[in-house]
Amino acid sequence: MKHILLSLPYGYGALEPYIDAKTMEIHHTKHHQAYIENLNKALEKYPELYEKKVEELLANNLQVVPEEIKHAVRNHGGGHANHSFFWEILKKDVNIPANFKKVIESEFESFDKFKEEFSAAALGRLGSGWAWLVKHKDHLDIISTANQDSPLMEGKIPILGLDVWEHAYYLKFQNKRADYIKEWWNVVNWDKVSDLYEKSIYSDRN
Ligand SMILES: [Fe+2]
Repeated sequence: MKHILLSLPYGYGALEPYIDAKTMEIHHTKHHQAYIENLNKALEKYPELYEKKVEELLANNLQVVPEEIKHAVRNHGGGHANHSFFWEILKKDVNIPANFKKVIESEFESFDKFKEEFSAAALGRLGSGWAWLVKHKDHLDIISTANQDSPLMEGKIPILGLDVWEHAYYLKFQNKRADYIKEWWNVVNWDKVSDLYEKSIYSDRN
């Protein structure tokens, strides 16, 4: 089955005033949609790959993807996976669950220090890309990736991710990426992030 754009689990205005409705609408209906269309197009010559989840296509540096479409699947499949992930971890006014906060504190000294390091990774990503909190082996890491590269390509499990492409913030924040990052902390769905962390532990054990 070809990949399709799913509706967001909330309205475009749900993250106001931190992320504006217009940005959300364009980001979802234009940018995410375009990644999906281009991914489907890249897979046309290999229709059997439509049966695989996008995460499976990206795994192990796109091992299952033929060489001639690897570049396209890396960009557009990565764009599809990253955006699907991003919408899921956004929600306004969610407090971090106490258990997960303890995990963050044990890995990064304090919650503030974690936010500082993650924000620095997001701000320091030159050009377009993402900042991530990932589960890797038995610990959590903050990394950033260029373009639409996904942590899944290197076997790292995304727990939290921030899109720092200009399309994610330019309408409201123009060139002020630091302001966008600061506001974004208000719309992290910590319940979902905590669930993803729990699942990542489970997947390690299997
Ligand atoms: Fe984006």
